[in-house]
Amino acid sequence: MPRTIIEPFRIKSVEPIRWTTRAEREALLKHADYNLFLLPASDVLIDLLTDSGTGAMSTHQWAAVMEGDESYAGSKSFDRFRDSVRGICGYRHVIPTHQGRAAERILFGVACKKGDIVPNNTHFDTTRANVEFVGAEAVDLLIPEGKDPASKHPFKGNMDIAALEGLIARVGRERIPLVMLTVTNNSGGGQPVSIENIRQVSAICHHHGIPLYFDACRFAENAYFIKLREIGYESKTPKEIARTMFGYGDGCTMSAKKDGMANIGGFLCTNNDFLAQQEKDLLILTEGYPTYGGLAGRDLEAIAVGVEEALEEDYLRYRIASIAYLGNHLSEQGVPLVQPPGGHAIYLDARAFLAHIPPAQFPGVALAAEIYLEGGIRSVEIGTLMFGAAAQMDLVRLAIPRRVYTQSHIDYVVEIILEVWKKRDSIRGLKLTYEAPFLRHFSARLEPV
Ligand SMILES: Cc1ncc(COP(=O)(O)O)c(C=O)c1O
Repeated sequence: MPRTIIEPFRIKSVEPIRWTTRAEREALLKHADYNLFLLPASDVLIDLLTDSGTGAMSTHQWAAVMEGDESYAGSKSFDRFRDSVRGICGYRHVIPTHQGRAAERILFGVACKKGDIVPNNTHFDTTRANVEFVGAEAVDLLIPEGKDPASKHPFKGNMDIAALEGLIARVGRERIPLVMLTVTNNSGGGQPVSIENIRQVSAICHHHGIPLYFDACRFAENAYFIKLREIGYESKTPKEIARTMFGYGDGCTMSAKKDGMANIGGFLCTNNDFLAQQEKDLLILTEGYPTYGGLAGRDLEAIAVGVEEALEEDYLRYRIASIAYLGNHLSEQGVPLVQPPGGHAIYLDARAFLAHIPPAQFPGVALAAEIYLEGGIRSVEIGTLMFGAAAQMDLVRLAIPRRVYTQSHIDYVVEIILEVWKKRDSIRGLKLTYEAPFLRHFSARLEPV
């Protein structure tokens, strides 16, 4: 096979992007109070804020959109969506939601109560917020290697098995309504979880009668890492690996805006008939009837095709290679980042990049602001602003939308970050001037210290 890995698609429709001057960006950043969420997207040249809902759909997905059955109840689009999702994860009940956090809210709203504890390898911000919203406690049990940005452990998303057993022994099985595994581990660097770890977590959960759920947003990328890195899976297809993984669990939450290759959507799956009924009742209250769950029929069609496309090997090979290319070109020049490169993003280690800025002065936010100033690239802090005192690292995530940017866009990103690296000593920390009571990073306002 040739060594050059190319984008496995050609471009049929293009969207212009807009240059701004440095002086314009200085004014824009000040106006946005140093929070890149508050920037108009039209003032961003390369938008790496998130890989969520920002991907390009394929011709097959657009064709499927035209097949959307917009019937309120019992639409054909729901049948296709359910069959496609079930074909991959195998769970009995497939409940559509408008995005991932809606699935989380319904799951935790039904399964958890005040005083409960939900272990996860690392809760994503919306997952943590939804657990806490019902009065339960979100506990992260990542392996120690997962917290060391420099460690090259192949499965840094793994859960700490001894810590899980210790937690169950300490607080008792009754207080743990479910255990979650986030694949890949977004907040911990987009790092995968191995089948062996999933098997062990599953065995412990089932020994204690605790259901295991996946936060499955990036299930296909996780499956491909298993194929590349775990002995015994080299010749399996990503779909076979995904099926094996889901087989160890009892359900999942999913944002179809990631490995669903769609611009909106999500779902909640479970094998528990009793829970599913309660979930559907709550769904009707806030999302919609169980055969559309807050989505249009055409969205269900796009997801039905998208979850299959996310598992195509040519696509996954290119996707993982292009992220690794970005990470390797930066780390070769000494830029500190979470190693090895993740599945959907590169995570700059802002605490090491800006060692002169203490976590309380938000080094991740300061670095993201400087990268925007230098080259109009938008990224996102995952650190002290997002998680407060619970933050174990200060990272800047450069998330790559699926099938959107080309190799030369990535080369440009490398060039800009290397420029920022050269002038790192002149970057200043920030302080908060406004914060919301939860998920404060979306609306926080800051100014230089
Ligand atoms: C791991 C993980 N879980 C849950 C979510 C929430 O999904 P959504 O943004 O669709 O609500 C995200 C979104 O980025 C995520 O990365």
